[in-house]
Amino acid sequence: MSDVNETRTPVSVAGLEEVYSHLQPSARNPQLVERIIAVNFVLGAVLFACFGWAFWINAQPWKLGATLGGGMFFAGIGLVAWGKYLMPRGPFVEERHVLANSDADRDAFAAAIVERGGDVIKRRKLLGGLLGGSLGIFGVVAMFPLLRSLGPLPKNTLDHTDWTKGSFVVDQSGRRVSVGDLAIGSIMTVFPEGTQDSDRGQAVDQTVLIRISNQDFTTQKGRESWGPSGYVAYSKLCTHLGCPVGLYEQQLQMLVCPCHQSMFNVTNGAIPQFGPAPRPLPQLPLYVDTQGFLRSQRDYHVPVGPGFWERH
Ligand code: FES
Repeated sequence: MSDVNETRTPVSVAGLEEVYSHLQPSARNPQLVERIIAVNFVLGAVLFACFGWAFWINAQPWKLGATLGGGMFFAGIGLVAWGKYLMPRGPFVEERHVLANSDADRDAFAAAIVERGGDVIKRRKLLGGLLGGSLGIFGVVAMFPLLRSLGPLPKNTLDHTDWTKGSFVVDQSGRRVSVGDLAIGSIMTVFPEGTQDSDRGQAVDQTVLIRISNQDFTTQKGRESWGPSGYVAYSKLCTHLGCPVGLYEQQLQMLVCPCHQSMFNVTNGAIPQFGPAPRPLPQLPLYVDTQGFLRSQRDYHVPVGPGFWERH
């Protein structure tokens, strides 16, 4: 092996200088270009931070787009300019030559690189730091959608609805429902007064009110006082996956879920008669006050909604 190396001519310092000349930046004024790139990275970092702030406060979509797009634009401009103007220019052609140099040539080459490249390396460290900072901020704000989607802890809000003792039963417009409002066989979606326009009211409080007869109606043993004047009320949230159970089959006296066709018998406590729903719709105890308005005796006796509760 050593015989082969000894037959070739070592690369001279002059030759190394020629190679080094190709490693110089292509910009005529590298310092100015570096400053421009640094400004772009700083602008990119600031806009990424603004994007994070805008996302956190749920700002308008155009603000999210403007800050994220602007950040990527400036960071991209900086990266492209760095590659185009500050990286060594080509073309790079490497001649086949002797692989081994003398110790003297190696020392001379190392000295030339350290002496002439030191400043360049230092400046590149600054740009690398700015680029890292900009991309770091972007990485942090990219986590915001995940963090915000976790939302606040539900605590015990899933255990209860807004129905309380004495809540007035109102329709979608907020009008109180009185005992003479529904004909036998009719249904209506109702809410506890004051929640009909709220997200929570629409989500967990919505209730189906059905008039089965004009006599007090008992759906199950122990619920003798829950159905005054033939009115019964059930949670509208399907116990399968939470779709609104809004279809009423009057002939069969069944509430039907439109999503997977679960059917609940309203005359016996809304026990599922068909479909994937695993448990009955919770029933709301009602009473009629002295002025003839329908009101709730208390909250539902069990939590409303899908089968989360079966896992406890
Ligand atoms: S959500 Fe009602 S049956 Fe599936």
